[in-house]
Amino acid sequence: SSPLRLGIAGLGTVGAGVIRLLRANADLLSARAGRPLEVVAVSARDRTRDRGVDVSALRWYENAADLVSDPDVDVVVELIGGAEGTARAVVEAALKAGKPVVTANKALLALHGSTLAQLSAANNAPLLFEAAVAGGIPAIKTVREGLAADRLLRVGGILNGTCNYILTVMRETGKDFATVLKDAQDLGYAEADPSTDVDGLDAAHKLTILAGLAFGQPVAFDSVHVEGIRRIGAIDQTFARALGYRIKLLGLASMTDAGLQARVTPCLVPQNAPLAQVDGVFNAVVAEGEFVGRIMIEGRGAGAGPTASAVTADLVDIARGHTIAVWGVQTNTQPALRACPLSSG
Ligand code: HSE
Repeated sequence: SSPLRLGIAGLGTVGAGVIRLLRANADLLSARAGRPLEVVAVSARDRTRDRGVDVSALRWYENAADLVSDPDVDVVVELIGGAEGTARAVVEAALKAGKPVVTANKALLALHGSTLAQLSAANNAPLLFEAAVAGGIPAIKTVREGLAADRLLRVGGILNGTCNYILTVMRETGKDFATVLKDAQDLGYAEADPSTDVDGLDAAHKLTILAGLAFGQPVAFDSVHVEGIRRIGAIDQTFARALGYRIKLLGLASMTDAGLQARVTPCLVPQNAPLAQVDGVFNAVVAEGEFVGRIMIEGRGAGAGPTASAVTADLVDIARGHTIAVWGVQTNTQPALRACPLSSG
């Protein structure tokens, strides 16, 4: 059957990772999606940069707006990042044009998720963002679909790989904060501006998205209390260890009698608790529901491979015509893209 034609806006670590995964798993993806997933166009500023993947045969746009309006592009994959500017313009333009969007952009969704959800519904254009929370962990699917039957009481976890990596290496080696941050940047985990990671904002973006899905309503990013890990020193690690704890940056949202409470803050976690065992770039998503009780899923929260895995899973969903609207209310599917409907469709 006819390919689902993709336009990828943004060719950084994740964009290149998605192209690599689409090529490595082309046959398997085609079988699972019911049709081939084919990249037809990309947009990025620098055409000459070595990205470790051959992009010479792809249609190239310097201006992402031109990629969105290319009639050969069925689905727009936004991997530019940032809550404003080009990334926001690309996502809005694609949705307005009725094109499905897959994005890994947590800042954009945390700040403008409800507007984008409305655009998505109004234009019958799916907006999927599995990669925006906890990298390779299927956190969105778990909360929105896996726990669809339950009333959730709490959601959150270890939501920033860079911070967890820094805290882990500091604890294990006694190295200072700046040295370990540099390692995390070299490994491709950190955001372009690493203060987004270490000051807790990135985790807060992800918590905002997760809480919105868990509690069935958009959450105001401003209402999340945010504290990062800059002030954690060797002395804190020493005391934590002596008292039987590990320091973790946790994001937690819960529904209380006073309404939704959401915060990102360094926490002392008992060293034998499951969350304390989640080290390095690994993230963990925890949730608690009235019927299901507590669950935890762990996996790599950053890096090209895990993030590409989540982005591409969303593309498979779109190819199958299996999509649900952003805040959990079923409002649309894409009949034109229903090559291989799931039984539910
Ligand atoms: N900078 C983020 C992290 C990348 O370290 O977790 C994934 O969102």
